[in-house]
Amino acid sequence: MTTTATSPLTEPNPLGARVFNFSAGPAVLPEEVLETARQDLWNIGGSGVGVLEHSHRGPVISRILEEAEADCRALAGIGEDHAVLFLQGGASLQFAMVPMSFLGADQTADYLDTGSWTNKAITEAKQLGTVNVAFDGSRSSYDHVPGDDELALSDGAAYSYYCDNNTISGTEFPRPPATGSPLVCDASSNIFSRPLDVSRHVLIFAGAQKNLGPAGCTLVIIRKDFLERTRDGLPSMLDYRQHAEKGSRLNTPPVFAIYVMGLVFKWIRRQGGVEALATLNREKARIVYDAIDDSGGFYRPVARADSRSNMNVTFRSPSEALDEKFVEKAKERDLVGLKGHRSVGGLRASIYNAFPRAGCEALASFMREFAAKDRD
Ligand SMILES: Cc1ncc(COP(=O)(O)O)c(C=O)c1O
Repeated sequence: MTTTATSPLTEPNPLGARVFNFSAGPAVLPEEVLETARQDLWNIGGSGVGVLEHSHRGPVISRILEEAEADCRALAGIGEDHAVLFLQGGASLQFAMVPMSFLGADQTADYLDTGSWTNKAITEAKQLGTVNVAFDGSRSSYDHVPGDDELALSDGAAYSYYCDNNTISGTEFPRPPATGSPLVCDASSNIFSRPLDVSRHVLIFAGAQKNLGPAGCTLVIIRKDFLERTRDGLPSMLDYRQHAEKGSRLNTPPVFAIYVMGLVFKWIRRQGGVEALATLNREKARIVYDAIDDSGGFYRPVARADSRSNMNVTFRSPSEALDEKFVEKAKERDLVGLKGHRSVGGLRASIYNAFPRAGCEALASFMREFAAKDRD
């Protein structure tokens, strides 16, 4: 008997129609990337074999890995001082690998707590060593990122840790914090949305599923002299040094996620690089923030004005019931994924690199209409 594989997504929106997807992650990908991936799934580069079916040590995948690394380096101006790694375990494994590798028994690490994701990182680090919470954003409901004068840093910290863009509360650092100790950054939700000064960091990591590609791969950019400080005796798969020595092929790497990430890097280069995207991202975010600010108080922003994220715009309507109605009515207009994170509620528009400007315009006009007509 022949069975036909069907996707749960084939109904009621069959091939062809796409909507504006504001999902916080996994999130929208550039359509040209999806088109290329669709072809390469069947047969990549005339090899007669699909990208998912090639050996990770063969020439096709070797080239994909080399090009992905080279394009990543070109995009972010990463020199030979830093290694570029493609790892697994999500951004969440980095919460543990960082302290496991670099927080010695007699040391302290400074953490800037700006939201749920840093909070999780702090919980992991506390299991492994001494943590100084240099900024406690929970006291102001995570509505802003700290200025340098708000930091209570420790002397001689092993490293300081921050999250550049807080996906849930919708806050973003205007620039990296000045901490004085080696700087570690979770850039999962804004990497390559704007220039990032790699030279100021010893380690930057990003789960792929927002700005870079599908879930399953974590990009790690790590300064080589810092890498050498990795604690000895760690299990191989948790040892940055071993991953670097083996060129991210210590075991079978997440080949498909790296392949798509490589396509996304090339797409970013074709858009004019991260500088061009930064301008576009500012404009896109402005369109949505204007709809909030011009609503006469109907929509309330979650983030303080000086900390607003260009990637995740968070806001609330006058009531939870109206938030729900907003999400439902928006869906009727093909605007999906606008519900806030389950831990905080409210509304959230995630507008990563691949999210089109037209979608921000459609959302802003829907917001104006909803505020005028559907307020009760
Ligand atoms: C800023 C940030 N860090 C870490 C994570 C956790 O990522 P993962 O699910 O890949 O572990 C997320 C997920 O949304 C995030 O937004």
